[in-house]
Amino acid sequence: MSRDDVFRAPKGVHDVLPPESGRWVEIVACFAERAARYGYGLAITPMFEHVEVFHRVGEHTDVVAKEMYELTDKGGRRLALRPEGTASVVRAYVEHRPTPPWKVWYVAPNFRYERAQKGRYRQHWQLGVEALGVDDPDIDVEVIALLSGFYRDIGLSDVRLLLNSMGDAESRAPFVAALRDHFLRHGDAFGEDFVARVEANPMRVLDAKVEAWQDVIGSAPQLPEFLSPDATAKFERVQAGLSDLGIDVELDPRLVRGFDYYTGTTFEFQSAALDAAQNAVGGGGRYDRLAEEFGGPPTPGIGFGSGIERIVLALDALGAPSAAAGIEVFVVDGLGPDGGTTVGGLVEALRADGFAVDRAFGGRSVKAQWKAADRSGAAVAVMVGRDELDRDAVAVKDLASGEQEEVSRTALVAWLTARRERVSGR
Ligand code: HAM
Repeated sequence: MSRDDVFRAPKGVHDVLPPESGRWVEIVACFAERAARYGYGLAITPMFEHVEVFHRVGEHTDVVAKEMYELTDKGGRRLALRPEGTASVVRAYVEHRPTPPWKVWYVAPNFRYERAQKGRYRQHWQLGVEALGVDDPDIDVEVIALLSGFYRDIGLSDVRLLLNSMGDAESRAPFVAALRDHFLRHGDAFGEDFVARVEANPMRVLDAKVEAWQDVIGSAPQLPEFLSPDATAKFERVQAGLSDLGIDVELDPRLVRGFDYYTGTTFEFQSAALDAAQNAVGGGGRYDRLAEEFGGPPTPGIGFGSGIERIVLALDALGAPSAAAGIEVFVVDGLGPDGGTTVGGLVEALRADGFAVDRAFGGRSVKAQWKAADRSGAAVAVMVGRDELDRDAVAVKDLASGEQEEVSRTALVAWLTARRERVSGR
């Protein structure tokens, strides 16, 4: 690899820098605030786990079998970078045994060796929640409502919600048998890879992207036909709850999500602003058996993950304005080196009063500082000059209109606050 290639971010990953990162701040803050309002606390789990933790999400899934970043550390431990958030959270639940119901949210990077393209990366960030210990369709509704309202709050207006039920163990066994039968009967010409997938888990054929298999997948039996009375009743309750909240759903019997742990409710939010192959902005579902897989007590669970990069792409495609706050005030130092710490003191005082303030450094000329003020995006520049200082005042300039006036130092905060309120219409 050439020097030029080595000192670039590896394929499929990228930097998020200002001003784009302003959107990220806004998205994460909005989600954190919403999750807190729903009673979810932040969970921070390690970026890597013993590889077996992730095997529990399905050894035959693409994510585990083909895309995982695995490593051996210097102590000989087999580890993997987290490819998704649920396994780590459930591992933490089983390890610490908090009192259920246990409701947590997270914001974390995930690593998958994917075919990199727009909206599909080798490191992506997810916002997510997991709720453990509640076997009640009402919490399925809560979790979906949390995500739906979050998309509304951040301006993602073009999402549709697909809903399905994977059924319980009682529903699943006859469905999987019927699927296996169907695939082996109609897919014998597809070769070893197909048969191996069917033998390992026929559900994993349903989400395969192979073009030649699509007809056989299209004619396969569908899960809803196999739902037990109990699974049907729960699924209907979820639909009724969402309908009561005014959340539109489209039932999609073909929605099978890419992990083996799902049971019962599954859902996905798709954005029309994204390319079809990467249009899922978020998805999740119930996983009532996963805690047991980690050696824990039987503990139902439900959650979702939503990719931040895709949210940003969708918001950009919609032209949604970013409300990310930038610099409000730029302080220009007109005193020069003999002004001592006056300017630094003023900057700190305004920041303490809640304003976003920046300044120039390195003793730059007043002219250069005015240029920097213009470039900063600030609405107002505050200039401290010798004459103003003698009168215990500052010069304030509206950088958009160019209007300038003198304001006494004691009235400055009130002046800036009044201007801010006038501009924001409050
Ligand atoms: P997932 O559907 O694999 O589910 O990922 C969740 C979301 O992460 C996707 O809807 C998408 O927005 C984003 N995403 C996934 N892979 C990529 C990628 N390569 N590049 C960019 N964005 C991506 C899960 O991971 C489950 N743990 C969700 C869950 C939580 N189920 C229950 N609880």
